[in-house]
Amino acid sequence: MDQKIFIKTFGCQMNEYDSNRIYDTLKKIGYIKTDKYQDADCYLLNTCHIRDKAKEKVYHDIGRVKKTFKSKSKPLIIVTGCVAQAENEEMLKREPYIDLVVGPQSYHKINDIILNYKYNNKKIEETEFDVVSKFDYLSKIKNKSKKVSSFLTIQEGCDKFCHFCVVPYTRGPEYSRPFNQILDEVKNLIDNGTKEIILLGQNVNAYHYKDLRLSNLILEIEKFRGVERIRYTTSHPKDMTEDLIEVYKYSKKLMPLVHLPVQSGSDKVLKLMNRKHNIKEYLETVYKLKKINTKIEFSSDFIIAYPGENEKDFKDTVNLIKEIKFINSFSFIFSPRPGTVASKLEILDKKESLFRLETVQNILFKNQREVNKSLESKIINVLVENRTDDKTKLFGRSEHMTSVVFNGSDNLIGKIVKVKILESNQNTLFGASIDSTHQKVA
Ligand code: SAM
Ligand code: SF4
Ligand code: F3S
Repeated sequence: MDQKIFIKTFGCQMNEYDSNRIYDTLKKIGYIKTDKYQDADCYLLNTCHIRDKAKEKVYHDIGRVKKTFKSKSKPLIIVTGCVAQAENEEMLKREPYIDLVVGPQSYHKINDIILNYKYNNKKIEETEFDVVSKFDYLSKIKNKSKKVSSFLTIQEGCDKFCHFCVVPYTRGPEYSRPFNQILDEVKNLIDNGTKEIILLGQNVNAYHYKDLRLSNLILEIEKFRGVERIRYTTSHPKDMTEDLIEVYKYSKKLMPLVHLPVQSGSDKVLKLMNRKHNIKEYLETVYKLKKINTKIEFSSDFIIAYPGENEKDFKDTVNLIKEIKFINSFSFIFSPRPGTVASKLEILDKKESLFRLETVQNILFKNQREVNKSLESKIINVLVENRTDDKTKLFGRSEHMTSVVFNGSDNLIGKIVKVKILESNQNTLFGASIDSTHQKVA
């Protein structure tokens, strides 16, 4: 008989992809998704460890489930993701309500782990780095994503060891999936109705399989008629190689938004962070891309108030933001992560850190509003993804990934539609459809 599973996902797009693939796997042993955790026979929490209180959030969440099920039979509790990897068996000790702890490179074993647990009733923590076997196994299970825009992980892990970051410890060393394995998954997604492929990796542009790189992969995926749009994230500035930059000259399907996290505008801070790139190199990449295609815009990640960041360093970040006019960005105050080099450094004053964050966000958000405002009365290409939550309107994304909301019928879902923008706010464009058409990007 089918068992109900509730899956809650924290963190990055890779965790979203993983949650979907875990579900594709669990369906084989009779699990069916439920949106109500109160009804679940299995509660799976896919966790993120990137910033503070990640661990506490997990225990808090499990505590809530425990309370809900106080007078009912307990669901199977599984913790996966980056907190599972970082904390491993400690989790089973600290919260006996948790049954299984499975790290990101062991998802191919999850069905066996569950069946074993049900048979032997022995709690288990599985946090081996076994990424080759994982993708071999997953490639034999169809990706069931039926979304217009689907994630596809092509690379995992990281060898860069930025001093602030837990990813090299939670996801393990860099690994690139075999080229043909990825193309098979693209075909599979096209058969399911996907129109946009978002290639994922913690360092997606470090992808290399034999002598093939991300540029080769993009150009190969572009050949599939069913694919209308291609994106990739997250890139490291050091891996923005000439071949990848050149792709923007030829590609008709690669979208003109480059997410290129810079973290800080100060070379001194970048060095302290062990980022392996400087601002001159970063700007060279930005301007090369802009020269190739003036439509290209940039988004970024910033860490504010990194240990050692003085007022001048902070001003350098502000100046960089003003120069590049990023159209969308993530900014957070530095959060010391256990086990990283930066965790031992002295953090900056809390009030000053908050002030710097607010300053940066005010500039970033103002720019975002201005860019969106400048699109009012313009006609843009929108890939329609689905209906808005209240079902009254259509939801899609511009070539630059901005949310677009407009009136229209369901038959436009999955199509690229011309939309005239009538209104906007910081995060969303509102408009009216003109007609449905095929896009031209470059
Ligand atoms: N690999 C990407 C890169 O090198 O730019 C970043 C991947 S990381 C999962 C996503 C973002 O989380 C980073 O770009 C950084 O801004 C942020 N981040 C990572 N560790 C952090 C920390 N300790 N405190 C605050 N933000 C952090
Ligand atoms: Fe983390 Fe990205 Fe640095 Fe790797 S390159 S350590 S994922 S911030
Ligand atoms: Fe978080 Fe792990 Fe992604 S720490 S950001 S879920 S790689």
